[in-house]
Amino acid sequence: MILMAKPAKRTLIATVEATPNIALVKYWGKRNEERILPMEGSISVTMDEQLKTRTTVMFSEKFKEDEAWLDNKKLEGKELGEITKQLDVLRKRAGVGLKARFVSINGFPTAAGLASSASGLAALACAGAKALGLELSEHELSVLARMGSGSACRSVLGGFVEWKRGEREDGSDSHAVQIAPVEHWPEIRNVIALVGEGRKKVSSRAGMRQTVATSPLYRERIRTLPGTIKTVREAILKRDLPTLLEATMRESNNMHAVMLDTWPPITYLNDVSKEIIHATHALNESEGKTIAGYTFDAGPHANIYTTQEHVPKVRKMLEGIPGVAKVIVCGPGSGPKYLAGKQEHLIDPVTAEVRRHHYDAKSNKIVVEA
Ligand code: DP6
Repeated sequence: MILMAKPAKRTLIATVEATPNIALVKYWGKRNEERILPMEGSISVTMDEQLKTRTTVMFSEKFKEDEAWLDNKKLEGKELGEITKQLDVLRKRAGVGLKARFVSINGFPTAAGLASSASGLAALACAGAKALGLELSEHELSVLARMGSGSACRSVLGGFVEWKRGEREDGSDSHAVQIAPVEHWPEIRNVIALVGEGRKKVSSRAGMRQTVATSPLYRERIRTLPGTIKTVREAILKRDLPTLLEATMRESNNMHAVMLDTWPPITYLNDVSKEIIHATHALNESEGKTIAGYTFDAGPHANIYTTQEHVPKVRKMLEGIPGVAKVIVCGPGSGPKYLAGKQEHLIDPVTAEVRRHHYDAKSNKIVVEA
């Protein structure tokens, strides 16, 4: 009789830190709502660890149901449902039925409405896949993150990233690819100006759906986007700052124009945002060249792209505008990081209990309490 050693039970846990991305060419509109397939492609830069989301995912037979916590708050209803949907895709892929715990915390210098869904859902895809031992390519992880939130598919990669629209109905070719790594243009900066408003009035998901359904101008946007994508991609590859910045500003203005053309109209920019737009043009004018380029997402905060050498001028410009509450300078980041140290998990791998943890703004670190 051959005695087989019982295989040691693997601990199905993984922790990932992912960072947000800020688009130069925006994603605004889906061709398939269910599968989160975009009307057109988009381009972004993945941010460095100034802004980050740490996520731990653990699967275990100890769990009777899926449970999720974000920023130390237990998620219920729709919010929990979004996480469970992602976990289901991972479970199906791995052929396991185990329930999971998801614990996530945003390490952002302020909670004032900065986009965290992209980093959060990219971290979920990467940590979930890793915990289940799935060997997925970046392409597959990007598809997975996309199914949680469109823009999350770009945070799976570092540096300069393009989300390819794709053609297939199942969405398998709608994912992000890297245009260039951080090292290609490490001097690029995003000077973020927080203009002190809380949550957005209309979510991106609802807003873009409304635009696709009602804006006549949107058709023109879709017609011109492939040209914009080409211009921006080439400007990145050539490190042509003035071309990149002008295209970025025009593109942000175009997206906000179709938002206004939506019926009823959607407005995300406030008076401070508009002041920043005018101040940026004035700065470029006084410099005699384009050194700064703004872009706004579905909110009033400004992202001003520039390069390291011009950061002091951009900062000075922003600090002179009443209503700018805080300025954060981000460089390009290299994408999700897997944290292997056992102490870094937000869940105790042995007891499966959620560990006490918090974000320390002073050191900009996520602290797991012993
Ligand atoms: C304005 O990715 O949040 O930031 O796919 O519905 O989850 P869903 O939308 P989301 O939209 C982001 C919109 C944007 C532009 C961008 O990041 O490209």
